[in-house]
Amino acid sequence: MCGIFAYLNHLTPKTRKEVLDFLVNGLKRLEYRGYDSAGVAVDSADGNNMAIIKKSGKVQALEDEINSLASSLAFDTIMDCHVGIAHTRWATHGVPNAQNAHPQRSDTENTFCLVHNGIITNYKDIKLFLAKKGYTFESDTDTEIIAKLMLHIYKSHPQNTFQEIVEQCIQQLEGAFAVCFKSKLFPGECVASRRGSPLLVAIKTKTRLATDHIPILYGKDFRPHGGPATNETLTAASLMPRTPSTAEFQPMEEDKQVEYFFASDASAVIEHTNRVIFLEDDDVAAVKDGTLTIHRIRRNLDDPHAREITTIKMEIQQIMKGNYNSFMQKEIFEQPESVVNTMRGRMNFEGQSIILGGIKDYIPEIKRCRRLMLIACGTSYHSAVATRQLLEELTELPVMVELASDFLDRNTPVFRDDVCFFISQSGETADTLMALRYCKNRGALIVGVTNTVGSSICRESHCGVHINAGPEIGVASTKAYTSQFISLVMFGLVMSEDRISLQQRRKDIIQGLRQLEEQIREVLKLDSKVQELAKDLYKHKSLLIMGRGYNFATCLEGALKVKELTYMHSEGIMAGELKHGPLALVDETMPVIMIVTRDPVYNKCMNALQQVTAREGRPILICEKGDKETQEFASSILEVPHSVDCLQGILTVIPLQLLSYHIAVLRGCNVDCPRNLAKSVTVE
Ligand code: AGP
Repeated sequence: MCGIFAYLNHLTPKTRKEVLDFLVNGLKRLEYRGYDSAGVAVDSADGNNMAIIKKSGKVQALEDEINSLASSLAFDTIMDCHVGIAHTRWATHGVPNAQNAHPQRSDTENTFCLVHNGIITNYKDIKLFLAKKGYTFESDTDTEIIAKLMLHIYKSHPQNTFQEIVEQCIQQLEGAFAVCFKSKLFPGECVASRRGSPLLVAIKTKTRLATDHIPILYGKDFRPHGGPATNETLTAASLMPRTPSTAEFQPMEEDKQVEYFFASDASAVIEHTNRVIFLEDDDVAAVKDGTLTIHRIRRNLDDPHAREITTIKMEIQQIMKGNYNSFMQKEIFEQPESVVNTMRGRMNFEGQSIILGGIKDYIPEIKRCRRLMLIACGTSYHSAVATRQLLEELTELPVMVELASDFLDRNTPVFRDDVCFFISQSGETADTLMALRYCKNRGALIVGVTNTVGSSICRESHCGVHINAGPEIGVASTKAYTSQFISLVMFGLVMSEDRISLQQRRKDIIQGLRQLEEQIREVLKLDSKVQELAKDLYKHKSLLIMGRGYNFATCLEGALKVKELTYMHSEGIMAGELKHGPLALVDETMPVIMIVTRDPVYNKCMNALQQVTAREGRPILICEKGDKETQEFASSILEVPHSVDCLQGILTVIPLQLLSYHIAVLRGCNVDCPRNLAKSVTVE
């Protein structure tokens, strides 16, 4: 998805080169989100206009272009106060080329320009309206209409402030957006807003800020004594300039030197500052004369008075590749630590107890519910498939597992006594977020299971579990999957705490969780063997992955990894379904991987294995260490340590993560940013 990065320095002298380096570096941190073009806007060398530089392709191409313009951009000029905005674009409207890249501008004078993440669904109506007024368009994007609308509003109300123009503009927009504006008319000012797409503001001062929150300024609908808010739309005339109030972040005297960063996520700002404000839908954040204010048009009864400044704990090393060739490879190899981090402070192995602080107060309510619904997309959905059987066993509740998009398409009935889990690494996936709002409106209890502190799903849930896997940068999800898996297992253990009949089962699982770190280290030693197998497989067109029971989710997840990383066809097949169709695919040429472990469906898996070998299939087997009986039928074997049946999927999925990685490398694919995909899918 698109990435936004903006940098404002106030009384903090920086050369133009430094500013451009900040912008380009910020974009590099957002590269993992997936993109096809990039651009920046800074003040022009004469200070009277803007320089907008855009390139299709990689951020590196943009950086090369900027460097080639070194003299015309006057790299060495020092700027005391300046605003630069930057963007990586993931095409939704119009092909990926420089023209459609952002920043988009209002006119050839660059009166207003902006960067945008999201989709404006009513852009055609606005475009028609503006075209009738004589505006012409130079791109195929929905974003350009925002820039032109800004100019139109400004021309109609030239007395309005930058922030007021943005407020009026966003009220006309439908769809999802995070936007960040720069204007030639308002030098040194930056205004940003969001609805549905993520955006944060980060603050850097020389000394620690005296305040931990930024009060919110409400528009004329503000009812200090809680009168009902109206639905009336704000008209231009009603936007009167406000009297300055204390509701601003005015840097202290020693903090007059201040820098602000606007970004789609924290990984882009963490090397500069860890003090961030996660903006909420319809917030308008404006910086003028070094002062940050947050505005909202109207106030409802339960709206807060302020936005909190959060100190984020992410370390810069966590988002660097280190000695690995790609983020994905690093993240696969981080799993011994990431699974421990998921359990840290929650699992008491000695006392056999588990506390999930984020949901503990809601456990009695969850125990009384009618059913559990686990709703997610992609890999996160697979973590729900992987744990469904165990949750049914430990909670004795019906458990529905739903793909968020399909769940919405069906208008699925949801009731007040349902508990709905929304599982999402990014916490920003649009389909999952829409499904969350759908269930919340119907009165269900909302539990978020996310990896991203401060994400939309996090904030909009009633309660939740942070999976604490650390930043996941590779588009293909790996360590988040194993941590989501463990988080859901821990939830099952909490729910079954007082069930006498389940005590031995719980002990076995807790023991299994304790062994995971070492066992994952052992599985990772298969890396070179998997690499050799990849050499046999990478020229094939297709790869089937079969299993059942607890290992079916591994088949789905393994096949998804192969598809997204290698562009090969791959299918996760429920072994019980083989004879109902997929067996027709099997012959001596078709690569097949089968997962057979000593769990309750072992015998059934062995039947499937024989069905495959009887059709000349020579499957690669993922099985338990030392299981000679099973191995007899295999062309190659990948042995993983034995774990308790319901955790075995954590160990069997890792060889498939490694395999997809090595096949992708051999096929020359971009491992961290597969074609056509984005890390954070913020559009429906
Ligand atoms: C995983 O490898 C994929 N890139 C994708 O399926 C992902 O899991 C899905 O888009 C959901 O993302 P989320 O976990 O951030 O909600």
